[in-house]
Amino acid sequence: ILLFLPAGHDTTASAICWTLYNLARHPHYQEKCRQEVMELMEGRSGDEIEWEDLSNLSFTTMCIKESLRLHPPVQAVTRKYTQDMTLPGDLTVPEGVICLVSLYGTHHNPEVWSNPHEFDPLRFDPANIKSHSSHGFIPFSSGPRNCIGQKFAMAELRVVLALTLLKFRLTLGVNPECSSSSGTVRRLPQLVLRAEGGLWMQLEPLKESCLREPPNK
Ligand code: HEM
Repeated sequence: ILLFLPAGHDTTASAICWTLYNLARHPHYQEKCRQEVMELMEGRSGDEIEWEDLSNLSFTTMCIKESLRLHPPVQAVTRKYTQDMTLPGDLTVPEGVICLVSLYGTHHNPEVWSNPHEFDPLRFDPANIKSHSSHGFIPFSSGPRNCIGQKFAMAELRVVLALTLLKFRLTLGVNPECSSSSGTVRRLPQLVLRAEGGLWMQLEPLKESCLREPPNK
């Protein structure tokens, strides 16, 4: 239970924040996601998203994945070698050694991703997916002890994002307590990503959807 709380809460919260922020920075992608959600919800009286709807949010999913690549909520995982392992170049990692796998490093490795610091959701277009290494995108880690909540997390992210975009337009904001609004992100020694002065965005209600009548009224 202790693991479920931080593993399932902070991670998703971080992924939601970064995705909203990235869409605020890229209004054309934000609008494309909104169009996708509006088409999905067309003709419906309520704002409920069903499980079956999730597969129809393909561009929104691409934006979420690109955010998870750029800003993985978990930056690294560790594994202990249970046997000696020979690596290319005649190197051997002895049994018992703990190895740190940098998810952040993999997601930003220019040999794996071209222009790795650029937000480009089209990397996850199914037409382009084959050009990537199968282990180039591992926000939920990999192997038998990967994240057991990943399907739930992806569903939650899609629902939160879709319902937010249906009601609000996201724009970059300015920290009122900070004179600088540069929004640059710096990397701290512990591999924590922290934005100078915070990442600020504004949620502006969308008139069309706010004026929609609730069901049966
Ligand atoms: C965007 C959201 C999430 C991300 C990026 C994420 C990422 C990860 C990563 C990288 C691991 C480590 C796996 C490893 O050591 O190889 C992990 C483990 C785990 N996650 Fe998640 N997670 C997310 C959401 C969730 C949710 C929603 C739940 C539960 C509802 C959850 C439950 C767990 C648990 C229980 C483990 C430990 C699994 C084990 O040791 O066998 N996670 N997660």
